[in-house]
Amino acid sequence: MQNCRYVKIGAMNETLRVILNRKSCREFLAKAIPEETKADIIGATMRAPTAGNLMLYSIIEVNDQAAKDTLAVSCDHQPFISRAPWVLLFLADYQRWFDYFEFCSTRDFARRTGLPVRNPAEGDLMLACCDTLIAAQTAVIAAESCGLGSCYIGDIMENYETHRDLFKLPRYTFPICLLCLGYPTEAQKARQPTSRFDREFIMFKNSYRRLGESEFQKMFEKEQAHSFKNSGELNGAVNVGQLIYRRKFAADFAMEMNRSVKAILKQWQNG
Ligand SMILES: Cc1cc2nc3c(=O)[nH]c(=O)nc-3n(C[C@H](O)[C@H](O)[C@H](O)COP(=O)(O)O)c2cc1C
Repeated sequence: MQNCRYVKIGAMNETLRVILNRKSCREFLAKAIPEETKADIIGATMRAPTAGNLMLYSIIEVNDQAAKDTLAVSCDHQPFISRAPWVLLFLADYQRWFDYFEFCSTRDFARRTGLPVRNPAEGDLMLACCDTLIAAQTAVIAAESCGLGSCYIGDIMENYETHRDLFKLPRYTFPICLLCLGYPTEAQKARQPTSRFDREFIMFKNSYRRLGESEFQKMFEKEQAHSFKNSGELNGAVNVGQLIYRRKFAADFAMEMNRSVKAILKQWQNG
């Protein structure tokens, strides 16, 4: 894995500096974020590219402390969520357009003109998810440029029923991510950026290339040496794949996320 400080500072423009120095921030100063700063960040967020210029997302600002406390539990027990000064929920949203279609009598129009009569479906959802994440990442970079730290919470995709009731989510929405934002503590600022895989394993030319055994060994060489430096096994796991399988892929949160996402998809599919 590679440390992301591989570009000389002098060779960077300001935008690259902000992107390359960003790291997730999970502890924040108890310092209010000025409303103008928030407005600037939301303004930048809404300039994000969006499929067909439809803006297939909504953002819910979660100010209510009780709601934040619920999220700190429902999103896989992450207490820092309740302490984050600014919490934004990013939803993929086709409900707004579908409501507008209904308002515009598009069903009658479609029947009259021979167009398909349909509800939002899987493809629409995927497009809305793209819009939503691009908007969220634009918020992350805008926030970083204003001196704010941020952290995604993907666990918002768990416990759908709780989040649906908490935020009154209608059928054609999908909670994609939470963003926790605030001014970073000194300890968070001092943290080293996390490592990344070398780009030879991530970026291919012209066609996809599946990795073979020797490449996987090279890809995980440092991680393997680091994780197993004291013993040949960790609770039965003997390599990084087994560690990650247990910690991430087969973990309780992943099982719950897949159950919850299935429940959301059912709504979009039964149109
Ligand atoms: C989709 C997504 C979901 C994430 N969910 C969480 C989360 O629930 N809790 C958390 O602490 N970090 C979460 N993160 C942050 C990642 O752990 C973090 O980006 C990764 O470890 C790399 O570290 P860095 O952001 O500091 O470079 C998430 C990131 C993404 C992109």
